Amino acid sequence: MRYAISYVSTANPALSETEIQEALDFSKDWNNNHNITGILLYSQGNFFQVLEGEEQLLKDLIDRIKTDERHQNVITIFQKSIPNTQFDGYQADFISLNDRYNDENFDTYLAQISLLNPSIQSSVKYILNKFTEGIK
Ligand SMILES: Cc1cc2nc3c(=O)[nH]c(=O)nc-3n(C[C@H](O)[C@H](O)[C@H](O)COP(=O)(O)O)c2cc1C
Repeated sequence: MRYAISYVSTANPALSETEIQEALDFSKDWNNNHNITGILLYSQGNFFQVLEGEEQLLKDLIDRIKTDERHQNVITIFQKSIPNTQFDGYQADFISLNDRYNDENFDTYLAQISLLNPSIQSSVKYILNKFTEGIK
């Protein structure tokens, strides 16, 4: 069974931009090697993440993420089983969002979301809009 998790969190204020980029790069590599799809964005002190993957793998991963001291106040948006879809093999690109926001980036995020499981797309789109609202 595949599983999906999404959350927002507050980045540890002590994190440098380099350290944020390192967390994003590590996540991208590990997830791509474990057939986990999704998106991870950083914007103005907050992270927004969507993860899709094999259920137990994902539950173990979210346990690690939640105890990571690089962020706090992890608020789960959804956490549920999802049907397998044609997107299973898709390897996500993880995108770092920072002050250099532009509309082109937003289109990229929307394209990324359209590759997620249909059962979670609409809520993810809604949150992405909220997440980027403050910086447009
Ligand atoms: C906001 C945030 C998102 C993360 N997302 C992932 C992720 O998607 N995949 C991943 O392998 N690690 C991710 N990590 C890193 C994990 O928290 C953890 O450091 C990593 O799984 C290695 O675990 P270990 O130190 O227990 O070996 C993330 C960290 C942060 C701060």
